[in-house]
Amino acid sequence: MRRDLFAMPPGIYLDGNSLGVMPHAARAAVLRRLDEWQRDAVSGWDHWFELAETLSPALARLVGARSNEVIATGSITANLHALLATLYRPEGARRHLVATALDFPSDVYALHAWAERFGAELRLIPARDGQTLREEEIRAALTDDVALVLLPTVLYRSGALLDVPGLTRAARERGILIGWDAAHSVGSVPHELHDWGADFAVWCHYKYVNAGPGAPGGLYLHERHHHLVPGLRGWWGHDKATQFEMAHTFRPAAGAGAYQLGTPPILALAALEGALSVFDTVELAEVRARSLELTAYLMALVERHLPELRVVTPREPTRRGGHVALAHPQAHALSLALRARGITPDFRAPDILRLAPVALYNTEAELETTVQVLRELLDTGAYRAVEAAGRVT
Ligand SMILES: Cc1ncc(COP(=O)(O)O)c(C=O)c1O
Repeated sequence: MRRDLFAMPPGIYLDGNSLGVMPHAARAAVLRRLDEWQRDAVSGWDHWFELAETLSPALARLVGARSNEVIATGSITANLHALLATLYRPEGARRHLVATALDFPSDVYALHAWAERFGAELRLIPARDGQTLREEEIRAALTDDVALVLLPTVLYRSGALLDVPGLTRAARERGILIGWDAAHSVGSVPHELHDWGADFAVWCHYKYVNAGPGAPGGLYLHERHHHLVPGLRGWWGHDKATQFEMAHTFRPAAGAGAYQLGTPPILALAALEGALSVFDTVELAEVRARSLELTAYLMALVERHLPELRVVTPREPTRRGGHVALAHPQAHALSLALRARGITPDFRAPDILRLAPVALYNTEAELETTVQVLRELLDTGAYRAVEAAGRVT
């Protein structure tokens, strides 16, 4: 779609669901900020001071929010803690937390810490087949004693996309605060977080937004919660107009900006600034349509040529995100063998090979070659010979 805007690594890269490819604009933006540092030194803060805030309109478009409801800061884990420290106020019988057995571990660690602090339970909705969640079970877990639920938009292993608007509505009807971990959907799937009524969301920018390793994360908080004072506070979340008065009384910025803590990483924000400019050149609906086209094509190729691999990702377009998960007992060896042939997949223990044909830069021809190479590896058994050295992340 916009492959011309990316510095493609050698070979075939199908791991954009882990770390997106570098946009030329990200490199250029970092170099520009480096030049500013060299030239302006501390005076650079005159133009860096509100850099995160200047990115909010672009973030807001990605997640369907108002600009004052989002901010680029922290990481998914840190932002989740900051939001829980503010929103999670167990009261009376309504005190427990709900998440799922398929959540990313860091989310579970964070939720556990808060449940422990308040002597509440963290209930994990089970995955009967180990890969997907049944939405009836999620709805059934939304009981009167639950204060807050955190769900993944797209499950990181299977690539299944949950019914975000429907589940948001269900939680809100029951008086439960609902937050989303949108790591695997932002930049790949359009969102309308504000209109859907989601209370909060966290996501990263290093996957489908292509802002580089450890890029600052994303935080969304619905404006109905903007009267709350953040449970975690730092000077970068202070009202910008008076921040440098250095008063000891914290006056929160109006909106999601109040959830910043310390001095932002300007060079990393610069990479995000450049990466976001790519999204000015495309419509998110087109990105989603292209992504669905590529994942459908990949699943069809796998079904036709690789019957040994089980497609775990749901077929219905409304039920899948941007990657395809394939189960095979030797998935780890296969992923190493693919890497040895110049194809970068992604592996998740114990048996999932993840392939992410990213709408912005991957092509059908790359998928055809990947499937051909997998066929050869399975036919010749060559993958068995690949040393299981190193870890595939
Ligand atoms: C779904 C999901 N949630 C949370 C995280 C953790 O994010 P962070 O390291 O930015 O805190 C990741 C990391 O890849 C993830 O994929």
